[in-house]
This record gives sequence, structure tokens and C-alpha cells, in this order.
Amino acid sequence: MVGTVLEPKNVLDTIQRLDPLPMSVKRLLGIFGSPDSGLDEVVEVVRFDPILSSDVLQKSNTPMYAGRHTILDVTHAVSRLGASEVLNIAMARTMRSRLAVALPQFGLDANQLWFHSLTTSIAAERLARVSKRPGLAGASIAGLIHDVGKLVLAGCVSASTLMRIRDRANSEGRPMHEIETEEFGMHHGEIGGTVARCWGFPLALQVAIVGHHPPHNSDDLLSITVRAANRVAHEVGHYCQNPDHEIGAQTATLVGQLGLRSRDLEPLFDGIVEALESALSSYH
Ligand SMILES: [Fe+2]
Ligand SMILES: [Fe+2]
Repeated sequence: MVGTVLEPKNVLDTIQRLDPLPMSVKRLLGIFGSPDSGLDEVVEVVRFDPILSSDVLQKSNTPMYAGRHTILDVTHAVSRLGASEVLNIAMARTMRSRLAVALPQFGLDANQLWFHSLTTSIAAERLARVSKRPGLAGASIAGLIHDVGKLVLAGCVSASTLMRIRDRANSEGRPMHEIETEEFGMHHGEIGGTVARCWGFPLALQVAIVGHHPPHNSDDLLSITVRAANRVAHEVGHYCQNPDHEIGAQTATLVGQLGLRSRDLEPLFDGIVEALESALSSYH
């Protein structure tokens, strides 16, 4: 553990200590990142992973994907879902236990980061679909791991330092990522981008994870989608407590960049809550 000095080497060493990704996820990432790969290769990977096969079959028969007939084989399930959704399912299974840990340094109880990450992933997928913009196939995957940098920070910075940063953020009414940048020269989004690079994620997803917080205010649509999804995930929490909750100006601006209006969000929120409940029930 270090004090307020955060050396890139400490970050990289902590990333190296994270559990490696399962082979099936690595192979799916390779397929996802290669324009020459096809669904046949995805099917091959899924077939050799019984848990993933079961997850993929289950998801392909949910109301969102199900057709008139029950899907009973992996080939049909994969073609129904597509490569990015299969990778998303595999990543969610892999990331669940990692993200479910309590991070009191960030004010997060057990499961809170996992619920937030899953909600952001679902929100990113929905925003990508509703906005109908091209190039957003990886939005849900980037949404799922957008805050993975918090795990790394918790592993290489003392709890007391992170608690102090959190107290500063609260007392100054500023987001934690701003104070992280002031203290460390980088925030958890940028560290998350390094995790994604070390794990072999395609560059577009690395960029989107880095860009989920300012100052990376690019016009990259995938970054905007993940940033908007992160805001929407927070808004969904407020919405569940108070359906009359007013959408924040920052969220409205971000979804506006995707061609959506604030009033498009209410039906979106209902769909996200439903999908979240369904996703969470599938893990029991
Ligand atoms: Fe974040
Ligand atoms: Fe987040």
C-alpha cells in the first residue's frame, strides 16, 4: 500500500495480482476484437464451457430474445444472441464475484458495485439500442467493467487515503474522480482502461472505459454511451425510490448527445429495472 503517491508500476503490479480471466472469456475477447471471426468460433468456445452454455441457453430464451420456439441448442442460442451478448454474459459471470466485494473506501457495501456495474451494462445496451447509432456493440461490456479501476485503487492505495478522498469529495460537493485526479494524477476510469488493455479488450472498449468520466470529453459515441449509462444507472436508483424524480441536467445532456430526450428515459428506466431483476435472478 502507498500513501498519496501512485506510481504506474504499483497500478500495473496490482492489476497483475487480479485473478486472470478464464480461458473462454479470453477466447471470446479475441473473437470479438477480430473482424474476420464468425459465430462458428463463438459456438466452439461456448460448447466447451458448460456453465457458459447454460447461461447462453437461458438468456436466449428470455422474453427479450425468445422466438416462438424454445431454443435447446447452443448454435441457435449463439446466433440469436450475437457475439457481443455472449461475451457480455461470460464477462458478467466472471466479474460478479470480483465486483460484489465491499469497498468501504468508496462508500460501497457488498454487492453495491456489482449492482451498479450490472445496471450500467444494461443501461448502456438499452441506450445503444434506442439511439440506433452505429459502432456501439461493445457498450454493455464496457458498462459492466467501467468501474473496475476502483478495485485496483483499493488494492494499491491505503484505505485511509481513499477515505480521506471520499471525505473531501463529500465536503467539497465534488465527484470522487476529480479528487482522485488531483491526488494521484489519474482517476479510476483511466486505471480501468489500463485493466482493459492488460486483459486484451479491444481499443474501442478501453477508450470508452477511460472516458466514462471527464476530462476525456471526446465525441467518441461509445464513450458517451458508457458515460450516459453510468449516469442513468444512478438515476434508476433514484427513480426506484421516487418515480417522480427529476432527471439531472448532466444526464439529460449526455442522453441528448445520443439523440434522446429526457422524456424517453422513463420507459427506458422501467425496462432497465425489469432486465436487472431478471439478470439478478439468473445468478441464484
Ligand atoms: Fe466511475
Ligand atoms: Fe460508475
